Amino acid sequence: MDRFLIKGGKKLQGTVHISGSKNAALPILVATLLTDEKCVLHRVPNLRDVRTTLKILQYLGKQVTYQNNVVTVEANGQLKNDLPYELVKQMRASFWVAGPLLARFKQADIPLPGGCAIGVRPVDIHLKGFEKLGAQCEVKAGNVLIHADKLSPAKIVLRFPSVGATQNLLMCACLIGGETILENVAKEPEIDDVIAFLNKMGADIHTDDKGRLIIRGVKALHGAEHTVVADRIETGSYALAAAATRGDVTVAGCVPEHNAILWEDLQEAGFSLDIGTDFVHVHAYDGEIKPLGVRTAPYPGFATDLQAPWMTLMTLCNGTAEVDESVFENRFMHAPELVRMGARISTEKSVARITGVEKLSAAHVQSSDLRGGFALVMAGLCADGETEVERVYHIDRGYEKLEEKLTALGATIRRYNPDKDEF
Ligand code: UD1
Repeated sequence: MDRFLIKGGKKLQGTVHISGSKNAALPILVATLLTDEKCVLHRVPNLRDVRTTLKILQYLGKQVTYQNNVVTVEANGQLKNDLPYELVKQMRASFWVAGPLLARFKQADIPLPGGCAIGVRPVDIHLKGFEKLGAQCEVKAGNVLIHADKLSPAKIVLRFPSVGATQNLLMCACLIGGETILENVAKEPEIDDVIAFLNKMGADIHTDDKGRLIIRGVKALHGAEHTVVADRIETGSYALAAAATRGDVTVAGCVPEHNAILWEDLQEAGFSLDIGTDFVHVHAYDGEIKPLGVRTAPYPGFATDLQAPWMTLMTLCNGTAEVDESVFENRFMHAPELVRMGARISTEKSVARITGVEKLSAAHVQSSDLRGGFALVMAGLCADGETEVERVYHIDRGYEKLEEKLTALGATIRRYNPDKDEF
C-alpha cells in the first residue's frame, strides 16, 4: 500500500490550481443514469471515488470514456438495476444510484453502503423519502431492495438536511409526473451544481423563497454537457495548509464564496487574506495563531470535511481551541495520530480540545479517512523531520495530484510503496 514521506518545515509558496469538486462530480455522474443519451462532463477530477463511480456506471450498462478530466457517458443497451457489494463497499456515494434507477425502472437492489469509517452513516432519510414517493423498501441479506408499482409526487420533509438524501430524492423526483416538494434540504454548493446539470438535461427544478426544492416531474431527460464546479473542500484544505506552514499561497480557480465562514475564521485566527472572485491569497504570517473554536454544521456552516485540517492548524495556536463535530459522530480519528506528532488534544464525545504547541514533530502515522488523512499530511508539512503517512488510499479518494500540487508549492513529499519500491 502506498505511503507518503514528507520532509516538513518548509513554508508553502506559489499558486495552486483547484480541481473540479469530487462531491459534485459523483452525483452528476450518477445523474447520467436518468437518460440514455450522451452526456459530456468537464473538469471531472481523476480520483479513486470518481473511478469507482465510472466502474459502477459501466457495470450498470453505460459506455464510459475518461480522458484529460473529460467524461462521456452514454447508454450501451439495457441498463441493470442492481449493484454488487464489491463496488458499493468502496464508496458510500454508490448508494445514490438508487434514486435514478428507481425513477427509471421502479426497482433498485443495492447493498448497504460502506465508505469512510466516520460513524454509522445510515440511509434512513433516503429510504423514508423513497417510501413517501410510493416505493417499498426492505433490507434483506445486507441489500436494500426498493421497488414501486407506481411512483407519485409528494411533499417530503427531511429530518436532517442530508446531502446524499437530498440528491437521491431530487434525482428520483425529476421523472415523477407532478410536483414534488423537498423541505429541510441540504444547501451545499454541490447540490446547486447537480441541479444545474439536471436542469440542462431538461429537468424542472427550482428553489422557492422558503428554501424548499420544487421539482416538476418530466417524462424524460436528455443528454447534456456540463463543467463541474471547483472543489471547495480542496480549496479550504490548501488554504489551511498554507496557513499552517506560514506560507504565501494563492489558491486559484476556486469559488471563494463557497468557503465564506472559513475565510472569516482564518482572518480571526490572525491570517491576512485577499479574496478575489476566483482566487484566495493567503499571505505569509509569522505572528501568533489565535485559538479559535469551530462547530461543524450543514452548509453554510463550517464544513465537517474541513474539521480535521482546521484541527491541525489549531495544534499550533497560542492557547486552547475547541472543535465541536456536530455532523458526524466518530470523526476524530486523526486526533490520536496528531498527538503522536506532539499535538495536545483531548476528545470527549463530539468535542475536541486542542492546546497549541510550538512545533509538531515528525512521526509514523496512519490515515483512517480521507480528510483526516489530509490533516496528517498537513501536520507532516509543518513538523520538523520526516513524517511517514500510511494508508494513502484514503487520501487518494479526494485529492487530485496531491504530491504534484504540494511539490509545486515547494513541499518535499514523495509517494512510495514499501512492498515494491526501494528507498
Ligand atoms: C456528503 C459528502 C461528505 C460530507 C457530508 C456532510 C459526498 C460524496 N460526500 O456525505 O464529504 O462530509 O456530505 O457534508 O458528497 N444521515 C442519517 N441518515 C441518512 C443520511 C445521513 O442519519 O439517511 C446522517 C449521517 O450519518 C451523518 C449526517 O446525516 O451523520 C450527514 O450525512 P450526509 O449529509 O448524508 O452525508 P453524505 O451525503 O454521506
